[in-house]
Amino acid sequence: MAVRKFSEKNLTREVIQRIRKTKNPRLKKIMMAYIKHLHAFVREVKPTQEEWFQGIQFLTETGHWSTGKRQEFILMSDTLGVSMLVDAINYKASAGTTESTVLGPFHRENAPKYPLGANISRHATDGEPCRVSGTVRDEKGRPVAGAKLDIWEGGADGLYDSQKGEEMNLRGVFHTDAQGRFHFRCVTPSFYPVPNDGPVGRMLVATGRHPMRPPHLHFWITAKGYKPLITHLFVKGGKYLDSDAVFGVKPELIIDFKKGKGGMAAASYDFVLMKDKK
Ligand code: BEZ
Ligand code: FE
Repeated sequence: MAVRKFSEKNLTREVIQRIRKTKNPRLKKIMMAYIKHLHAFVREVKPTQEEWFQGIQFLTETGHWSTGKRQEFILMSDTLGVSMLVDAINYKASAGTTESTVLGPFHRENAPKYPLGANISRHATDGEPCRVSGTVRDEKGRPVAGAKLDIWEGGADGLYDSQKGEEMNLRGVFHTDAQGRFHFRCVTPSFYPVPNDGPVGRMLVATGRHPMRPPHLHFWITAKGYKPLITHLFVKGGKYLDSDAVFGVKPELIIDFKKGKGGMAAASYDFVLMKDKK
């Protein structure tokens, strides 16, 4: 049997041919596109053997840095704008419904459950105390009772609890009341750097970027019959709103955290959920 000679010209076609028996049609589509774009990338960049090996070493290191607590690949996806692209494709807020943004690596399962009004901050040193309130509604403005709000934030030191130890702090789960209302206490969010002591941090430095995220408070809101909403509220006037390291800022999510009665900062937001058409 004649052995075909592969060349720079025909190799992509040959590899795509080789996967033609893939049974799962979605996997076939993904693999074909992956091979096509990867080969096009190599044709465009024309890496030397040393550069290609350097790329492989970078990905290997990214894997070695990834653990249950530190997900360096998610961080790479976030800082290259891919997480926000996937979000934009999958969560299209219609007029009036709340915009989504990145989940990030600091959400934790089984955060403490609190009654409305509770404080998610356990230490006086966490930051400047603040009140947050609002409602969860549907597209017609009707209150969503019993919606679950999973909330988390970093402290004034720029760190999340999981970066410091096992204690659950500055996070909690609340449920809206019969009128769809919620309120809780926390600390006014601060800006902070994404973890930057690993390969992704090196990539940011090498490409002339800073690692900072603007001040924000995370929400993951779920209610039966509605699409889960993963989002943040950003602090108006906060640093880095126009250069978020993970491209997560949307103008509709920037709100005032203003000092009110008694000198405590307060913020309010009405979330609007999308019906789940499944
Ligand atoms: C965060 O907001 O917690 C976050 C998001 C993406 C990457 C790193 C941190
Ligand atoms: Fe965050």
